[in-house]
Amino acid sequence: MNAIDLLLTRQSTPLLSAPAPDKNNLDTILSAGMRVPDHAGLTPFHFTIVEGEGLVNLSHIFVEAIKSPNIEQAKIDKTAKMPFRAPLIIIISTQYQEHEKVPKEEQLITAGCCVHAMQMASVALGYGAMWRTGALSYNDSVKKALNIDVQNDIVGFLYIGTKTKVLPLKPTRFYDDRVSYL
Ligand SMILES: Cc1cc2nc3c(=O)[nH]c(=O)nc-3n(C[C@H](O)[C@H](O)[C@H](O)COP(=O)(O)O)c2cc1C
Repeated sequence: MNAIDLLLTRQSTPLLSAPAPDKNNLDTILSAGMRVPDHAGLTPFHFTIVEGEGLVNLSHIFVEAIKSPNIEQAKIDKTAKMPFRAPLIIIISTQYQEHEKVPKEEQLITAGCCVHAMQMASVALGYGAMWRTGALSYNDSVKKALNIDVQNDIVGFLYIGTKTKVLPLKPTRFYDDRVSYL
């Protein structure tokens, strides 16, 4: 797939199964994540790889984070299943640095670019991927359990795996009402 085709046809795949990208492909995906625009070269991000037993651990972390006296069992069950929607998850979090010229907002954008770059690399390698967040991304006990400082942000859970079926290409979105000329 050439670069323009990749850019013009990217879409997410919610349903993913094993196999996950092998070591070489994961290396390519992570390297794409490192190639993002990064003001002052601060590398203000961190990638946490979750696969195998890690998915089980993440499931426990999610369940612990939502536990409360009146929580419904159905909610616990649904939350426990979430990490198993793919055989590999890369958690992208910020690692904000103090810098006189680079505000946190720019560092957050750079970390977001990492997610996009790694989704694109995954798609280019023939895998499916989906960027997810949700309330658990903003949950301090989830951050703590993942060794992410609460001052930092979880930018995304990038679910990656093998597509279970070929999804039709979503319709093109036209730019006409999003573009103006000065
Ligand atoms: C920061 C961010 C967080 C997202 N979180 C979720 C999520 O938690 N659940 C979800 O279904 N989609 C989420 N999405 C949207 C999907 O990744 C996806 O882009 C959307 O479903 C549109 O599909 P497409 O990527 O095929 O165009 C998120 C997207 C972004 C950029």
